[in-house]
Amino acid sequence: MAADGALSFPVVAVNEALTKHLFDNRYGTGQSTIDGILRATNILIAGRNVVVAGYGWVGRGIVSRMSGHGAHVTVIEIDPVRALEALMDGYQVMTVGQAAPWGDLFVTATGNVNVFRREHFASMKDGAIMANSGHFDAELDLDALRALAEGHVRDVRENVQEFDLGGKKLNLIAEGRLVNLGAAEGHPAAVMDMSFANQALSAEYVALHHTELEPRVYVVPEAIDAEVARLKLAALGIELEPMTAEQAAYVSSWQHGT
Ligand SMILES: NC(=O)c1ccc[n+]([C@@H]2O[C@H](COP(=O)([O-])OP(=O)(O)OC[C@H]3O[C@@H](n4cnc5c(N)ncnc54)[C@H](O)[C@@H]3O)[C@@H](O)[C@H]2O)c1
Repeated sequence: MAADGALSFPVVAVNEALTKHLFDNRYGTGQSTIDGILRATNILIAGRNVVVAGYGWVGRGIVSRMSGHGAHVTVIEIDPVRALEALMDGYQVMTVGQAAPWGDLFVTATGNVNVFRREHFASMKDGAIMANSGHFDAELDLDALRALAEGHVRDVRENVQEFDLGGKKLNLIAEGRLVNLGAAEGHPAAVMDMSFANQALSAEYVALHHTELEPRVYVVPEAIDAEVARLKLAALGIELEPMTAEQAAYVSSWQHGT
């Protein structure tokens, strides 16, 4: 909107705060996505082939926790750096077409549309399970899935729909909407506190500085990000190690440091 001149007020992108996406997106969504999948299906994750689309903050959280449960994990990415990171973190990287017949459980976390489409549903295994933890209900092409099932859709458990494609059945959790909200309770308060603190302090920042701000997108001021981390540590009763005067002089000096 800013680039198109369509933004009429200043915006602070709270998601870009480190104390938001490193924790809410990664650990909050990582945990609550698994919570939603398990509440809906009660499957055993250990030993399953799990495909995660998107290796951003949300995807990384889901992948690390799936891996911790003993899944074999494959990542799908469009970004070469993130694909490489996933590979060197120890996961397989495949295209959607390669992953579709391999996976037992598919989770999307890309923020994009129609990551899994008609041809991918057609090549999935009988009994495959799909869930989305990214963007609304847009990441799976549900119109195509419904069309393939030709009306042969039934509820097999609370929050699980089975699509009979004739010869095989595919399962969809929480209608392809955010699985951690549709089939579980979202993130614990112990991580949302930092997201809400960023929102509150950013709103205060806009209120206090509105005369200097333009109608564009601002990052959360570093001081707010650091303050949220400080407050969270204090709430947890954890102390930071202060630098000695010698260390402070050393790290700020160009004569002594490397
Ligand atoms: N479920 C929740 O509670 C929750 C919480 C936070 C964020 N989100 C949502 O999760 C989504 C991801 O958030 P994030 O912080 O990880 O964002 P991000 O930008 O860090 O990561 C998204 C990743 O998906 C990749 N990607 C984009 N299109 C792709 C495609 N077609 N195939 C494969 N990979 C693709 C990008 O390259 C990127 O690495 C967003 O839609 C966000 O709104 C959900």
